[in-house]
Amino acid sequence: MRHEWLNDAVFYEVYPQSFQDSNADGIGDFAGIVSRLDHIAGLGCNAIWINPCFDSSFYDAGYDVRDYYKTAARYGGNEDLRHLFDEAHRRGIRVLLDLVPGHTAIDNPWFAESCKDERNAWTDRYIWRPIGQTPSLNSPYESVRGFIGGIAERPDAAAVNCFSTQVCLNYGFGTVTEDWQFAADSPEAEGGRLLLEDIMDFWLGLGCDGFRVDMAASLVKEDTPDHQWTSLLWRRIREHLDQTHPDAVLVSEWGNPKEALHAGFDMDFLLHFGPSHYLDLFRDNPWFSAVAAAAGTADVRAFVDTYRSMVDDTAGEGYICIPSGNHDMVRMRDTLTPDEMKLAFAFLMTMPGCPFVYYGDEIGMAYVHGLKSKEGGYERTGARTPMQWDDSTNAGFSAARRTDLYLPLDDGTGHAALADTGERIAAAGTSDGTRPNVAAQTGDPSSLLETVRSLIALRHAHPALQADGGIRFLYAEDHAYPLVYERTATADANAAGERIIVAINPSGTDATSPLEAAPGAVLHTVGRSPATWADGLLTVPAGSATVFIV
Ligand code: GLC
Ligand code: CA
Repeated sequence: MRHEWLNDAVFYEVYPQSFQDSNADGIGDFAGIVSRLDHIAGLGCNAIWINPCFDSSFYDAGYDVRDYYKTAARYGGNEDLRHLFDEAHRRGIRVLLDLVPGHTAIDNPWFAESCKDERNAWTDRYIWRPIGQTPSLNSPYESVRGFIGGIAERPDAAAVNCFSTQVCLNYGFGTVTEDWQFAADSPEAEGGRLLLEDIMDFWLGLGCDGFRVDMAASLVKEDTPDHQWTSLLWRRIREHLDQTHPDAVLVSEWGNPKEALHAGFDMDFLLHFGPSHYLDLFRDNPWFSAVAAAAGTADVRAFVDTYRSMVDDTAGEGYICIPSGNHDMVRMRDTLTPDEMKLAFAFLMTMPGCPFVYYGDEIGMAYVHGLKSKEGGYERTGARTPMQWDDSTNAGFSAARRTDLYLPLDDGTGHAALADTGERIAAAGTSDGTRPNVAAQTGDPSSLLETVRSLIALRHAHPALQADGGIRFLYAEDHAYPLVYERTATADANAAGERIIVAINPSGTDATSPLEAAPGAVLHTVGRSPATWADGLLTVPAGSATVFIV
């Protein structure tokens, strides 16, 4: 494997706006993140992904970059980010930045140049079609979302990817049907790739360890269904990085590990969109919810079948990353109780590939309902509220006035605490109706935080549980419980080395599965009591997970 450290990597996603504010302006910043690195390291995470922290118009929370070479002033300067890299590295934490290659902000100076009537270096860097012409594009998610006119000197309309403030950079078209389109292998499209390589080299040179790549599959428009042209583009970028920064790690927001890993990414996310979307066992297909178990609505078999084929298709090439959540998803706590979340983390930390913990999920932060959209968040806004550290002012996130916070805090019920007087928090504890926080859960072995910490420690201690290890599902039946799987130190299940068996039952009743031989010694239990084995039958108590070492 190219990057050995990934085998034992556990990632933590930091949404910089909401993690820690160091200067009382109500918004998180680099110095704040540095001051909380010990929390991340103490949890056992050894890598972070920071959402876009570059100069931006913030119409999409930073996914609309104005200057790719400069950090957003509200987080600090480039030097502060470099200091963050150093401080993270001192603690053994690698740092991935978020690269937004598909579109820039509409007020990026490059776009202003491209708008001009006279030809210049930026004329073809964006996708333009004649103003009077109706495009014949059918628009799947990854293709052009629409065109905006009325903004340029030139007689053209510009393509946009998501919001109308996100204008598409030009990486060409897989199939050229109009004369304003450039082929994916044209020099104009090549120019886009060179630009990206330069941006990546810049930040890698400053000390970052790689990138999470936004909408990675979407670059070449009207690509083949299996994204051949976009894949070729990424393979060429990988070749470039192998020359300039061979240690750089790339994780894609692609949603199709087979395509992404063939394209040269080290890892791809599962459960976000693409073929894996409907398989999310925490949300859309909430197998970890006892309520869903009782109603018989969740299908673990569908997940396992798809996951297994993805693992088979990508053997030895890289990793499938399952996130606890992210800045685009409703938080896990919205569908699962804290006890169910413990089982979800038992699953996450014993699966192959690299697990990603979304900030706040380790304490069971709520998805906050009823918020007004902030920076293009819309329904995602409720998953982006300030981190809850303790029961001091503003949960320890910021010394700003409550009304100046980037987003309101959870009031303890999954709704917004809007005014100083309006807060309905009894005490910052762990019981229902109170706002969870790090301080209250620290040192309490029954808390979600300590459960997650011990599960991450377990993963670090056992090679069979890590990214490269093999997986064999022993019991995974449609709408049934438990889920039982075996992890081995290498992908070859028959090779010598550690063997671990994991059995999980989030349902409200004890569940059994056939298991030929005894599963070995109990290594770790989540829930009241461990699973037991007798006469070829494994009994997994209601609401529990057991990890055995054979
Ligand atoms: C990705 C990001 C999302 C953003 C979009 C457009 O899906 O995760 O937050 O809005 O790309 O850049
Ligand atoms: Ca700040």
